[in-house]
Amino acid sequence: KSGYIPRHFLSFADLAPKELNRIISRAIDFKASALDSNVALRLALRGKTVAMLFSKRSTRTRVSTEGAVSFFGGHPMFLGKEDIQLGTNESLHDTSVVISSMTSAIIARVNRHSDIKNLAKFSSVPVINALSDLWHPLQALADIMTMKEHFGDVKGRKLAWIGDANNVLHDLVIACAMSGIHMGVATPVNYPLNPEILKIAQDSAIDSGSKIQVSHDPLIAAAAADVLVTDTWHHSFFPLTRLTTRISMGQEMEKEKRLKEFAGFQVTLELAEKAGASKNWKFMHCLPRKQEEVTDEVSTP
Ligand code: CP
Ligand code: NVA
Repeated sequence: KSGYIPRHFLSFADLAPKELNRIISRAIDFKASALDSNVALRLALRGKTVAMLFSKRSTRTRVSTEGAVSFFGGHPMFLGKEDIQLGTNESLHDTSVVISSMTSAIIARVNRHSDIKNLAKFSSVPVINALSDLWHPLQALADIMTMKEHFGDVKGRKLAWIGDANNVLHDLVIACAMSGIHMGVATPVNYPLNPEILKIAQDSAIDSGSKIQVSHDPLIAAAAADVLVTDTWHHSFFPLTRLTTRISMGQEMEKEKRLKEFAGFQVTLELAEKAGASKNWKFMHCLPRKQEEVTDEVSTP
């Protein structure tokens, strides 16, 4: 590895639009080849170990990345927060140096974004962000890929985000701007989109022709939208595990306050109709949805 400078993927802010397009078209090709049992593809990661450092729960991201590394012939090494020394007698610096000395890449899910930045800073192999409190680039990749698979050309389509200004939105607004997808963002007044992230998206939008409208009005966001998107902002109790979850992970204490502030931000058929969403609009959500965020008719048509 000597002289090698790893390239990390911590957010879409790290990528050029061309790179985003390339990653998505490769993902679409890989998916088709995988279905054809392409043998070369199955050896692509042969002999490589990918550390999966997850300090937060995950179902979809863990299963998809762990399954993908294994599918490509590599060894995914899952390291939950109870498995390794990090945070007990070992710092992020130590963990990063040691793990990267013995693996080919690190996929990490962390609490604070500064944690993954530190991991990347000291790592001698590429670090891929599998969610931090600020960004969730793999989710935005999956969302743009889904739109491409569904619509073909996505340039000029409109995506409406109705809900929390969170990690998923941060990457999605930049990815849409890079892809020429127009975006209507409506968040509650006390949950504005981070202006620095908006600026990155606006800069990309100049080249791609994407228009980004930001407001606190779901009707403005959903006007002429082809896709309506939200993410979790509500809270539930799961009898099976006796766990109370989840607004975005780590925000569970804010339940009552949020319920009031998000009134009017539920995605409904009426909202889409009143706003004048496009005729065959679709709905996307990165998690099993909650009734407060979106009605049954929308998510199970
Ligand atoms: N969409 C997503 O990241 O889900 P998980 O939290 O289950 O990985
Ligand atoms: N915003 C959510 C996304 C989970 C996939 C969270 O951070 O928990």
